[in-house]
Amino acid sequence: MTSEFFGKTAIISGAAGGIGLSLSYALAEQGMNIVMGDIDNIALDNAANGLREKGYNVLTCALDVTEFSQWEAIVSSAKEKFGKIHMVVNNAGVGGTPGKVEESEHETWRWVMDVNVMGVLFGAQACIPSIKEHGEGGWVLNVASMAGMMGMPYAGAYCASKAAVVSMTESWVAELHPFNIHTSVLCPAFVKTRIHESYRNRQEKYAVAPDKRINKEKLMAGAKAATQAVESGIPANMLAKRVIEALISKQTYIYTHPNYRKVTANRFKAIDGAFEDAEKSDVVGHLVNDDIVTF
Ligand SMILES: NC(=O)c1ccc[n+]([C@@H]2O[C@H](COP(=O)([O-])OP(=O)(O)OC[C@H]3O[C@@H](n4cnc5c(N)ncnc54)[C@H](O)[C@@H]3O)[C@@H](O)[C@H]2O)c1
Repeated sequence: MTSEFFGKTAIISGAAGGIGLSLSYALAEQGMNIVMGDIDNIALDNAANGLREKGYNVLTCALDVTEFSQWEAIVSSAKEKFGKIHMVVNNAGVGGTPGKVEESEHETWRWVMDVNVMGVLFGAQACIPSIKEHGEGGWVLNVASMAGMMGMPYAGAYCASKAAVVSMTESWVAELHPFNIHTSVLCPAFVKTRIHESYRNRQEKYAVAPDKRINKEKLMAGAKAATQAVESGIPANMLAKRVIEALISKQTYIYTHPNYRKVTANRFKAIDGAFEDAEKSDVVGHLVNDDIVTF
């Protein structure tokens, strides 16, 4: 039986390595045309050559996801080469640098928020009109993280950015459903990639003035723990197989680490339990049976 992906076109951001590259292979194996975008042009060319050697249909485009004009350019090149776009994989993301909240560099927060949040918004905004236009439906796959499902000490920027991606996805699911566009959010725990070395592609516009930089020793302790966790992660090709399975069965939240269920269970229990405190409140308890506002 022909795959539902066969002959269709996917644009994947951050496709030069790690999860983005593994997803490029997995979707190409399903018969998709692959449009690979990345900020690292050399890594992108090497990565794309690997796919071409296997005979897959590939186009590469320089893409910094924080620049909307570059998203417009990749969409236009993809349509010129393959005719239509059916899927966007908003994968490009950066880990930031671990640090105490009161010591966090504003430039680092802006970098993490711009790449991880605005990059996802820009990708969706640039691609959705083209996915809607042919009426065949499609997919928006946003790559968040387990970090979007829980806060973590010293990683506020990364967690906040990934929580935003979960929330954006939840908002878009119902918006895009009438157009037969399936929207989902991928929430992996650790995967063996180069995420702990994200600073390698940090743009000049987010440079931190030397006198504002966090003390290197403090930085290294957090960075070492992150490196160990990432290096003990699952292989990216295992994640990619899981994503194909989940897309075929139209899952909205895509988990790759079922062992992390206790994390979300504890969080949701705490969130739900806090309503009991509000119900008992002398100030607002009387609102308990009022109608709620939904859209
Ligand atoms: N590796 C993990 O443990 C893990 C866990 C959960 C979520 N994630 C998420 O997976 C996604 C992919 O990360 P990865 O683990 O493969 O890391 P990675 O560093 O190996 O790959 C990220 C890719 O994104 C590219 N990139 C960085 N900034 C960019 C920009 N501004 N524009 C375009 N491309 C850019 C990099 O050049 C690189 O090719 C990220 O969103 C990350 O937050 C990773």
